[in-house]
Amino acid sequence: MTSVLSRPCAPFAPVSGTELQVPLVQGGTCAYANFDCAASAPALTAVTDRISELLPFYSSVHRGAGYASRVSTAAYEKARVTVADFVGAQTDSVVVFTRNTTDSLNLLAACVPGDTVVLDIEHHANLLPWRDRRVVVAASTLAETITRLDEELTTKPAALLAVTGASNVTGEVLPIAELAALAHRHGARIAVDGAQLVPHRRVDIAALDVDYLAFSGHKLYAPFGAGVLVGKRDWLDLGQPHLAGGGAVRTVSIGCTDWAPAPQRHEAGTPNVLGVAALAAACEAIAGFDDAALQAHEKELSSRLCEGLAALHGIEQLHVWADAPERVGIVTFTVAGRDPGEVAAYLSAEHGIGVRDGKFCAHPLLARLGHAAGAVRASIGLGSSSADVDRLIDALATLVESGPSWNYAEDAGWWNPVPDPRPFPELVGRVDGVSGPSAAGVGSPCTLADG
Ligand SMILES: Cc1ncc(COP(=O)(O)O)c(C=O)c1O
Repeated sequence: MTSVLSRPCAPFAPVSGTELQVPLVQGGTCAYANFDCAASAPALTAVTDRISELLPFYSSVHRGAGYASRVSTAAYEKARVTVADFVGAQTDSVVVFTRNTTDSLNLLAACVPGDTVVLDIEHHANLLPWRDRRVVVAASTLAETITRLDEELTTKPAALLAVTGASNVTGEVLPIAELAALAHRHGARIAVDGAQLVPHRRVDIAALDVDYLAFSGHKLYAPFGAGVLVGKRDWLDLGQPHLAGGGAVRTVSIGCTDWAPAPQRHEAGTPNVLGVAALAAACEAIAGFDDAALQAHEKELSSRLCEGLAALHGIEQLHVWADAPERVGIVTFTVAGRDPGEVAAYLSAEHGIGVRDGKFCAHPLLARLGHAAGAVRASIGLGSSSADVDRLIDALATLVESGPSWNYAEDAGWWNPVPDPRPFPELVGRVDGVSGPSAAGVGSPCTLADG
């Protein structure tokens, strides 16, 4: 039998950026190897084609009598149906378009009539928005973690259990149907943060008995600024309007506002029709893929990556549970003796490889895994190939054996090659001091309770 490590595996579907050449510090260029799909995935070609087709019709939504406006409105409303079909939403569900998963979960959080139970492994987007939050510390096995959730919900009722579908740090997939049954047994609803699950697995909320699902277009190969919340209508019809403004009301007088029901209630302001159409185009394209083949592609590349990393000295792969049955194509690791930021800067500067480093907006989880200083994350997408994986492993092997061949220095938490002779394309230009998190400013100390 041919080993996974020796069999070539091509990209699964055409995405933008596959022709991208990036400069290297030592001179010359190479093809970009994108291992940062879990943060922001490149656009599927089917998505960019749809946007180009729709662009001439771009106009106001729900606001104009002109032909283009009617076409834009139809595109926007048709997208609701497409997204609902994609996630198996039933007729009592409502599809609310948002900016991203964070926006969707904040919207839902303002509508929840009671406590929300969460695990401590969550991305901050599924941790901080819940006002009446009860955090359960995950155990070292998934089975024991589920027991802890059961105990928490037995001890005190909650309105909602909010869980991630797949960890953005380890890629481990949670047993959603089992957790939905658990929540419902205790009279709670379940919300799934699908940001990392939906790009990798078919999610049928009716079959799983999920009450709410949130995900982001930009992680689903539709990077045009739209996200979505799909779920039960009653809380969303009665909850606090996400934004106050035009389009979210039935009537307004100076003293009184009659808010519209969902979804309009939460979609004030001019809608992002191109973002929403892009999201729908991605859903259509992915629904048309052979799911078994898509999963086989991801599994093959993930295994190749995990096996390759395991063979290198001093590399530790992170996981939460010893018994997690499956994971999506996200692999997070540390390199002994090297700052994660230095590793990421080296991979980019000397090898043209893009990864994410840091704490992945999951500070409590990284701290609990003993990596409060962060780690490196390589995430696989539809445009990834075995050649990309081999380049990443070879680059890490060189780092482990010989170290980098350039200098790297940290400046306010952001690692850079020193000097960095790589030019930026003219359309952007290089602006010193805005490339890293330091540019976002260092906030004041806070605690989770501040969230
Ligand atoms: C699991 C998970 N949830 C939520 C988010 C937030 O997504 P967004 O930044 O699109 O709002 C992310 C982003 O990385 C994520 O990985």
